[in-house]
Amino acid sequence: MTAELAVAHLTKSFLGARPAVDDVSFVAQAGEVVALLGPSGCGKTTTMRSVAGLETPTGGQIRIGDDVVCDSSRGFFLKPQRRNVAMVFQSYAVWPHMTVAENVRYPLSHRRLPRPEVERRVAEALAVVKLEEYAGRSATALSGGQMQRVALARSLVYQPRLLLLDEPLSNLDAKLRQQLREDLRRIIKHAGVTALYVTHDQSEAVAVGDRIGVMREGRLLQIATPSELYNRPAELFVAEFTGASNLIAGRILRADAARAQVRIGSGCDLLSRVPRVLAPGTEVTVAVRPENLRLSRADAQAPPAGEWNRICAMVSTARFHGVQTGYTVEASGTSWEATEYGSVPQFSPGDAVSLWIPLDGCWAFAEKRSGAAAH
Ligand SMILES: Nc1ncnc2c1ncn2[C@@H]1O[C@H](COP(=O)(O)OP(=O)(O)OP(=O)(O)O)[C@@H](O)[C@H]1O
Ligand SMILES: [Mg+2]
Repeated sequence: MTAELAVAHLTKSFLGARPAVDDVSFVAQAGEVVALLGPSGCGKTTTMRSVAGLETPTGGQIRIGDDVVCDSSRGFFLKPQRRNVAMVFQSYAVWPHMTVAENVRYPLSHRRLPRPEVERRVAEALAVVKLEEYAGRSATALSGGQMQRVALARSLVYQPRLLLLDEPLSNLDAKLRQQLREDLRRIIKHAGVTALYVTHDQSEAVAVGDRIGVMREGRLLQIATPSELYNRPAELFVAEFTGASNLIAGRILRADAARAQVRIGSGCDLLSRVPRVLAPGTEVTVAVRPENLRLSRADAQAPPAGEWNRICAMVSTARFHGVQTGYTVEASGTSWEATEYGSVPQFSPGDAVSLWIPLDGCWAFAEKRSGAAAH
């Protein structure tokens, strides 16, 4: 039934250009949902299409369960229809001339299953996507979200061992997208099927994925649980793409495997985590998430728990968003964005404050800012 997916050294080059997928390796365990996240053109769809058998890889091996489905070194390539893999795309690929139930039943029509078994599976799939009441309705008389649930039910009904989803929610409006991603995860987990879920939306990847793989320019930079990705980014691009918008230039004064002392701005030092040991003198970018910073009155005590850097600063702007306030604070030649949750802002422009920066939320990378646009 559901199966492990192993991708090893997958490479796909189209004529001329740099590889669309460049030496990508990962394993999705049986029943695990792996989200591939990254900006447009980074190779997500090409990776997924290679797994489905819709692209012929230039190099590498793909295994689904015990079956090697592609091995470039031997020129071996199993046809898509023999891989027992289901795909759900961005466009709602439902057949308009059929009812909801007929759409869901269709993939079973070529299998020699007894009629009661077919009806049982269709009913079960419709129940999972909560569309039982719509079984007899024409597929065109559905909302976008309902159509996508039909597409999902249709993919699950023949019990594939692997489900591939390529931006399945991107045609829906923001509110529906948010609702449906919770449903999607519930449905996939209920089916117990291994899934590869492609998106360029970080919050969607977090909501749906057990683990998230971040891709850039064909390469898989890091694959980790959402929490690890947000709190222990391995690369500057990962930090930036997942929303660490404070990117402070600095230079390493001293470092060991766990932490570094970084000189930033005009003579101010910061204790930071490092993903790998960095030599003194290395130019770095320190990445910090705005929601992990704390502001306090200038003379207040340190926040409880953990180790904190403290910098004297001045609030320059405050942007009230109803449920949170975004502050810009200036500190010895560096500018920081800090988010404060709650509907009552505690600070105003001109206030002298202490800016508290958690050691564990501060990551130094030996790179210049990558220019990743976080969503
Ligand atoms: N059939 C093709 N021929 C030539 N180049 C291609 C082809 N398909 C994809 N590419 C290129 O490969 C790279 C990766 O494309 P891919 O569709 O995998 O990106 P993606 O991460 O899915 O992007 P998006 O978020 O925009 O869907 C891009 O530079 C793209 O132009
Ligand atoms: Mg794509």
